[in-house]
Amino acid sequence: MIRVPASMARTTPETFRPLVGHAATVLQPVRRPQTLMATRWAVRDSNTRPPACKAGALPTELTARAHRVSASGVVYPAAVLAALNACAAAWRPNIGMPAGSGDRWPEDYERGRPGYPAEAVGVPCVLPASSVLDLGAGTGKLTRLLVPAFDEVVAAEPAEAMRRLLTTLCPRARVLAGSAEEIPLADACVDGVFAAEAFHWFDGERALAEIAQVLRPGGALVLMWNLPAGPTEPSIAALDELVQERAPRDLGYDPSDLNASTYASGAWRDAFAESRFEQLQEAWLPNPQTLDRDGMVAFLASMGWIAALPDDERLPLLDRIRSLLDADEYRRPWETHLCWTRLRR
Ligand SMILES: C[S@@+](CC[C@H](N)C(=O)[O-])C[C@H]1O[C@@H](n2cnc3c(N)ncnc32)[C@H](O)[C@@H]1O
Repeated sequence: MIRVPASMARTTPETFRPLVGHAATVLQPVRRPQTLMATRWAVRDSNTRPPACKAGALPTELTARAHRVSASGVVYPAAVLAALNACAAAWRPNIGMPAGSGDRWPEDYERGRPGYPAEAVGVPCVLPASSVLDLGAGTGKLTRLLVPAFDEVVAAEPAEAMRRLLTTLCPRARVLAGSAEEIPLADACVDGVFAAEAFHWFDGERALAEIAQVLRPGGALVLMWNLPAGPTEPSIAALDELVQERAPRDLGYDPSDLNASTYASGAWRDAFAESRFEQLQEAWLPNPQTLDRDGMVAFLASMGWIAALPDDERLPLLDRIRSLLDADEYRRPWETHLCWTRLRR
């Protein structure tokens, strides 16, 4: 059951649709979720962060044959998890692509960046029998949660290298080349648009106008970002120190963090003021990630400023990073900031 503390429940008339994985392999038709994931939510419509939420337990039914639970606790169909694991096992720091190449970091991104909690696609305003669009889908970290949850999933991504992994890892999504400012879909053809870790990259006003165009009346827009929610265990203080030392002084954001300055500044909110969307509602969900040493190196390698270094600087830096990691496993407590709204009718 979703719990909304009374103090936070000012405008939360709807409940979230608790979400679970579906009981099918990727080759079979999707069955709707049948069991509930016990989850506690903190939901409110202000811009202030509530205290961290507690993760719910995975019901045992979801660990049955056709499903596997990933290191982050998300339940995937077995075939999808097998593809993810193969991708992880094949990961090596990219030495083939020149600095600045868009081909350079999709594998690092996929290997090292956190995904999203399954509940993040259970927002109340998008029903399971919906067509949804994942905008700026990247390698499909969110797309792979949308596929089992909705009837039809389209994933749009402008970067070809990202799309290649997206197509492999999300075979049931319809993958399109396209941007938020020029969405390659007909008017009023989807019930929900999702954008994970991406809206702050968009030209907000143009994107919102375009999203309003492809949404059906009353359709939903759901945005999300991952934020650090506590120290990594065991400590990676030495690594943080190295990264701070080596990052360009004028970077403008924390060099070992996902918290892009354009997100952190809240500037992305401005575009909503004159838009056709209702007031944003927000929630914060716990999103723990477990990484092995390669995963932690890949996380750093996926940072734009490291990916852009010439190889004779980048590869020794990644070696140095690896030498500072002596645990087999690192636990990173992220929190997913979820925002959702509806198109005014
Ligand atoms: C940080 S990644 C997030 C990828 C994925 N949604 C995830 O959560 O892992 C941002 C993605 O947005 C894409 N992107 C950047 N500008 C975009 C735009 N104007 N329209 C659509 N996607 C864009 C990038 O190519 C990249 O794949």
